[in-house]
Parts: sequence; structure tokens; C-alpha cells
Amino acid sequence: MKITQDNILATKVRKAVFPVGGLGTRFLPVTKAMPKEMLPVVDKPLIQYAVEEAAEAGIEEFIFVTGRGKTAIEDHFDHSFELEYTLRQRGKQEEYQSLNSLIKLPGSISYIRQQEPLGLGHAVWCARHLIGNEPFAVLLADDFIYAPTPCLKQMVDAYEKGVMVAVMDVELSHVNRYGIIDIMQEHQRQVKVKAVIEKPSPEQAPSRLAIIGRYILDSEVFEHLDKQERGAGGEIQLTDALSPMIQKMPFNGYRFDGTRYDCGSKGGLLAASIAVALNRSDLRDEVLNELSRVIPHSIKPA
Ligand code: G1P
Repeated sequence: MKITQDNILATKVRKAVFPVGGLGTRFLPVTKAMPKEMLPVVDKPLIQYAVEEAAEAGIEEFIFVTGRGKTAIEDHFDHSFELEYTLRQRGKQEEYQSLNSLIKLPGSISYIRQQEPLGLGHAVWCARHLIGNEPFAVLLADDFIYAPTPCLKQMVDAYEKGVMVAVMDVELSHVNRYGIIDIMQEHQRQVKVKAVIEKPSPEQAPSRLAIIGRYILDSEVFEHLDKQERGAGGEIQLTDALSPMIQKMPFNGYRFDGTRYDCGSKGGLLAASIAVALNRSDLRDEVLNELSRVIPHSIKPA
């Protein structure tokens, strides 16, 4: 195939959308004045892990769909001159570098307001003018994926065109929390999708294979989101907008290599912190020690 500007744009995934407008009610009161995406896994906020994952997958433009009370996210990815000056004065080179690595090329981060929390589909639709007509990624920061190769990079490497969504098996009793896939056929990590259904009951679910918050989407999705149709929970669902695209283009699930933690739940967030800490040489021994002190006391006799 002759390489032209058009077909480079048709396949390369350069842009990513981070929907960060959610209210975080499950974590109140901590999320009253702080965005849930700023909750830490050890010493980095969830949103930073997602942005780093995107950058490692080759993303060049980062689009945050925010809402009221989310300015801490903008500040996190900006200079903090006072802090940087103080760290330099005190010779804290490592800390200074870690802050500097958060700064992206000027103009590569944009923030759009989702004025009303109308659902994930609506949040993605808010980014339509910045995406234009090229494939793009969507990352949900509260799906924290701990993986040898970052999940989105695995997907970008496998992606050719159309739609690709990260998938994993979940317990049957949990299918009503996810977009669930009806499987046409499977080949290695790729699953050809026959249908998708948002938050089915266990009785309705065609499988236990759930969409996890990493997507590579064709911009045709905006045509379907334009209709603003409401789905499960009365929200404008991304899954519903993807459904009519299945017949029209390659549409695959990707069984990623890695462990996913649901950091939209308290237990998941704590588990992610423990897993990351146990994998860090600077923390492992200390955390193991603390855990061995805490665990015997927390198990009540039957
Ligand atoms: C969203 C999507 C759902 C997907 C899930 C992954 O749901 O609508 O299809 O399976 O993320 O975490 P939410 O968690 O916003 O309810």
C-alpha cells in the first residue's frame, strides 16, 4: 500500500480521551473536594498512570473531558514553579525530575468541560471536534491495569483498523457492572465480537467477557453518539453507540496480558496499592512487615 498522509492518519492512534468528569460518589467524603482520578495508588494519582500508559503507547495528544471541581487534574499536569524552585534549592533532584516528567509538550493537552454528567458516551462525544476523523483511544483511569507491557500499547500493537476494546472474564454475578460481549470467534488474544450489551443481568448476558476501560475507536462512533440516545441507567452509553459499528468494520475484543484492579471501588484501590507496593524494591519489605502485623488481627475467629 502506498503510504500517504491520509492512510497514516487512518491507522495511527495519536489521540486519547480521558473522561474525568464523574462525581466519584462511591468514595465520599474523600472525593468531596478532590477528583476521584487524583486518588493515589501508592504515590501517583490514578490519572497519571493512565496518561503514562497512553504516552507509552505512542499517544501525542491528551484530551481530558472534565467537569466542575476537577481543576486539581489540570494543576497536576502543569508547572508548579514554587515547588520546583524549592526542590532545586534543596538539591532534591529526583523529586524535581519526577515533577518535570509530568509536563507534556505545550499544546498537547486539552481540557473540555462536560457540563452535565450524562454518561460515558456523552463524555466521549464532547471530544468530537478535537478528534476529527481519525482513530483514537479512550482510557478510563479507574480501571487500573498492572501489566508488563502497558495495556494500551498491547492494543495499539495489535490494532489494524475499526474498533478494539480491552476485555477480560468477570464473575457472572458482576456482569451487570460492565459492557458484555457476545463472542463470534476467538484467535489467540483477539475476540471477534458478534454483539455488545451494556450492563445486562446475569440471565441476559451472552458471556462473562467484559469490556474494560481501554478502547481504540473509529471516529464513526460520533455519528451514533450524535443521536444522544439514552441506554442503561438513563445514560448515553458508549457501548450502545459502538453496537451498530459491529457489522461495518473490524470489531475485536483484546484479552490483555496484565492484572486489572477496579479502582472505582475501595477494595480495588487498596488492592492496587498493595500490589504496586509489593513490586517496588523501596517498599516491599516495609509493606510485607506491616501486612504481617495487621492481617492476624483483622481475621476474627469464627
Ligand atoms: C463503563 C462502560 C462499561 C465498561 C466499564 C469498564 O461503565 O460503560 O461498558 O465495561 O466502564 O470499567 P461504568 O464503570 O462507567 O459504569
